[in-house]
Amino acid sequence: MLLRPFLNDAGSCASYLFGCTTHDKLAVVDPHADLVDDYLATAAAIGAPIVAVLETHVQADHVSGLPALVERGATAYLPAGANVEFDHVPLADGERIELGNTVVTAIATPGHAPAHNAYAVADRRRGSEQPWLLFSGDSLLIGDVGRPDLHVPGDARGQARLLHASLRRLLELPDHVVLYPSHYGGSVCGRGLSGNPFSSLGFERAHNRLLALTDPEAFADALLADMPPRPAGQERIVAANRAGKLDVPA
Ligand SMILES: [Fe+2]
Repeated sequence: MLLRPFLNDAGSCASYLFGCTTHDKLAVVDPHADLVDDYLATAAAIGAPIVAVLETHVQADHVSGLPALVERGATAYLPAGANVEFDHVPLADGERIELGNTVVTAIATPGHAPAHNAYAVADRRRGSEQPWLLFSGDSLLIGDVGRPDLHVPGDARGQARLLHASLRRLLELPDHVVLYPSHYGGSVCGRGLSGNPFSSLGFERAHNRLLALTDPEAFADALLADMPPRPAGQERIVAANRAGKLDVPA
């Protein structure tokens, strides 16, 4: 299995090229519009096409590179109920994508956004179907969790409760699972993110203070206190990402 992280310091966004080089099937998760040429150049150097593009959710802080990758032949996958206006394959909880020996399983993890998937990834050549890593999107972050107020502004507390339940599900994964979220320190999608973009389920289980809050209301209280400002241009970015365009008129 191949994995290449792409870090965009402008918005502290992480995206990932991954997949199976034995069967020449690569995918990108949470692509950034500014990095499309980088994904394509890396895939070309590897010698395998990008056949799939996955979003963990409709992004509110950056324009997605999904449409540009679809134009070049990739199939788009989004969480079921993502409410987008372009052709895609909706992935409900438990649904899988096979990229050769790389197996991706959607885990419905609403709360940052009402339609949000984390993607557990297994490598059939190592560990069979056991998850090796998790693309957690904006659900479980490193030292933090995703903010609940961006996508349903009128019901941030309801979204926080959903996120609490989603995180309990992720905590069922074993400690060794490597975490690759979609943001790191400096992002407006959280408040206390580490500058280390990656971690493990076990380390976050032990040291992420929000995961220690087992009561949903205490969790919501902590999450809703001192919310940072919303991302600049959020409405326009969401409109572009729902339409599957690289931008929409101001
Ligand atoms: Fe987000």
